[in-house]
Amino acid sequence: MNRFDISLLWKLWLISIITVNCNAAVPKEPYQNQIPTQGLYNTSDDVVILNVTNFKSSVYEDTKSWLVEFYNSWCGYCLRFAPIWKDFANDIYAWRDIVVVAAIDCADDDNNPICREYEIMHYPMLKYFSVNAHSPSLGLVMEKYNKLNELRHSLIDLLEREQQEGRGISWPNIAPYRSYETTNIWKAIPNTVKYFFLLFEKTDSHLGAEVILDIHKIKILQMRRVLSDNELLCETNKITNFPSLIVLGRNETQKNLKIRIPTRQGIYNVIKEFITSKGEIIHENTFKNHSIKNENHKLSISTTKQLQVIEQQQKNTEKNEDHLYQLDLENTLKYSISHEIPLHKMIKDKKMDALKKYLNVLAEYFPLKYGNIFLETIRDIILKRSNISGEEFSQIVKSIEEEMSPIYSGPSKWIGCKGSKEEYRGYPCGLWTMFHMLTVNFAILNKNAEHEPRKILEAMYGYIQYFFGCADCSQHFVQMASKNKMFEVSNINDSILWLWSAHNEVNARLSGDNTEDPEYKKIQYPAKIYCPNCRYENNTWNEENILHYLKTKYSYKKINYYNSVNTQKNNDNKMKIRHERLVLNKYTNNKKIGWDFTIFDISICVVLYVASAIILILVCIKFAVKRTYRKRNYVSLLAKCDFYFC
Ligand SMILES: *[C@@H]1O[C@H](CO)[C@@H](O)[C@H](O)[C@H]1NC(C)=O
Ligand SMILES: *[C@@H]1O[C@H](CO)[C@@H](O)[C@H](O)[C@H]1NC(C)=O
Ligand SMILES: *[C@@H]1O[C@H](CO)[C@@H](O)[C@H](O)[C@H]1NC(C)=O
Ligand SMILES: *[C@@H]1O[C@H](CO)[C@@H](O)[C@H](O)[C@H]1NC(C)=O
Ligand SMILES: *[C@@H]1O[C@H](CO)[C@@H](O)[C@H](O)[C@H]1NC(C)=O
Ligand SMILES: *[C@@H]1O[C@H](CO)[C@@H](O)[C@H](O)[C@H]1NC(C)=O
Ligand SMILES: *[C@@H]1O[C@H](CO)[C@@H](O)[C@H](O)[C@H]1NC(C)=O
Repeated sequence: MNRFDISLLWKLWLISIITVNCNAAVPKEPYQNQIPTQGLYNTSDDVVILNVTNFKSSVYEDTKSWLVEFYNSWCGYCLRFAPIWKDFANDIYAWRDIVVVAAIDCADDDNNPICREYEIMHYPMLKYFSVNAHSPSLGLVMEKYNKLNELRHSLIDLLEREQQEGRGISWPNIAPYRSYETTNIWKAIPNTVKYFFLLFEKTDSHLGAEVILDIHKIKILQMRRVLSDNELLCETNKITNFPSLIVLGRNETQKNLKIRIPTRQGIYNVIKEFITSKGEIIHENTFKNHSIKNENHKLSISTTKQLQVIEQQQKNTEKNEDHLYQLDLENTLKYSISHEIPLHKMIKDKKMDALKKYLNVLAEYFPLKYGNIFLETIRDIILKRSNISGEEFSQIVKSIEEEMSPIYSGPSKWIGCKGSKEEYRGYPCGLWTMFHMLTVNFAILNKNAEHEPRKILEAMYGYIQYFFGCADCSQHFVQMASKNKMFEVSNINDSILWLWSAHNEVNARLSGDNTEDPEYKKIQYPAKIYCPNCRYENNTWNEENILHYLKTKYSYKKINYYNSVNTQKNNDNKMKIRHERLVLNKYTNNKKIGWDFTIFDISICVVLYVASAIILILVCIKFAVKRTYRKRNYVSLLAKCDFYFC
């Protein structure tokens, strides 16, 4: 080999080292696809679907008011609430030029900034945006009732207040009629109106407003409500029963109409009969059409349920195995730190403490495939802070993820936690799995450590209490923790069993609930087929065997890498340490020089350069020695080598 060859070789090698090591700062494509969601509503519903692009342009500066449900497609309460919300949208479909019923899916990552901005901490959350609302109004939180009439009534109260405050002037007047007589009634009424109704009702009744809104599209009618405290008007019209209805026609004497059924529908029917008897036609689709659709919609749901049951019976033969999947754990982690935590506008005080504890156990015990420096770095940044905004947290996670990528071992998808449909299982299942895994490995790694036996449980408690988006789940968990004496657990093994028993308690509560995936029943865990000796003959639990079973199933050793993509063991520790320095440096000094290289980048390049040079010198010496050995030429080796490298 001649001199030229060696020098060229060396140069190529150096270039390759520099490009490999110094280009790590260029972001690599992270696993972009977030947890797939399809939302709980679709175009066949009367619910308007909002998203990040159309949210503000819809709810702000509109002549209608908007009632928006912020939901999350995996949240159990949201799943239960979705049919109610659909029915509600359908129920007040005739009011759609006054108030729009809408929904936005906060589980969709694109919508994340909206849900954070509007301070949605738990799901579902109903917010009312008044007519002509302006940015930055965050909307008014409305109670989420489970009954249509309660939802309707609280909406009417809001609409009424709007009118009192001078908005919604183009709406039908739902304020009570306060005058003591009816002689002037026609003065302010358009000529198209032929009949005018007065509904007398109790002061706390919402019937009048409901019917007024229901019929407001019918041009030949108008209606006002009179409250029972307008005694003079009641007396002059001899009204003693509430509700009562009187009708006035132009040039006709007024007439009392008998209300047989004092409901919204009953009153509507009375009005319709009267109008029909006068030879007028009401076009049903202004009011009634949607109810028919409603029944169809219910029918289709029950038929699909039946289909599901049949499918389930067919599928029951091929049961999933009881594994711990790496992708489930990673997906949970990712959703939690990249989505759920960033939803919070400002994290401080107790919430911040909970976050620190949580990140700490993740950094210590989460089995990321390429090492936990990613999590440790995030934790170290957060530990130094007393507060942080969700947005900043999200930025930090994102940039560290980019710089250290790959973090996750595969695509974002659920394996063991996959439901038969997108809305089942998923994240809540993943969260349970992750905490089971953490309690188990914490116990395995800390056999003798009797201090902090509740370390994992307390981190979980804080996370569920302050960050878990499902409001009722979070509440239930907090209650259960105090009822089942979580804070008295004094032994590491017991913390595993405490969580196991808590999980079973939740499963028992949710069993048969409509959030339950029909194909994965919420069973008492572990099922007999997986662990026959976890139960005694008399069907009570054998805790010793359960502990053994859990310790086996959830241990690191048993992690199943099914569908993990990056299987090569490219666990280069030096690389990771370099990354760590790089990132820490970025968040502590922020001393940057051109091309997005940090000082550490450059200095490490220099170190590598020197190291390579030394290695080459050694190689060169070897060559030189061989050569001199052959030629027996005792010339200064070092001088020769110097020459080679110039
Ligand atoms: C979505 O719409 C399809 C028909 O277009 C319907 O079959 C399906 O049940 C709907 N899904 C939901 C969640 O409403
Ligand atoms: C938001 O919804 C609109 C209308 O449904 C759609 O055109 C748009 O692509 C959606 N935007 C995103 C980011 O999904
Ligand atoms: C009511 O009477 C006035 C005259 O008194 C008449 O001009 C008008 O057409 C009548 N309206 C109806 C609806 O009968
Ligand atoms: C319901 O409304 C649609 C149009 O929106 C119309 O085609 C249909 O005939 C109506 N059905 C009834 C029963 O009124
Ligand atoms: C957040 O913490 C910083 C100091 O770390 C403090 O100056 C700031 O006032 C805090 N902000 C809030 C909203 O608590
Ligand atoms: C926990 O259980 C293991 C057996 O799984 C046992 O060896 C260990 O001593 C127990 N630790 C405590 C603190 O009870
Ligand atoms: C069930 O059997 C086990 C062991 O055979 C025993 O320790 C336990 O007390 C029994 N439980 C009940 C409720 O009979």
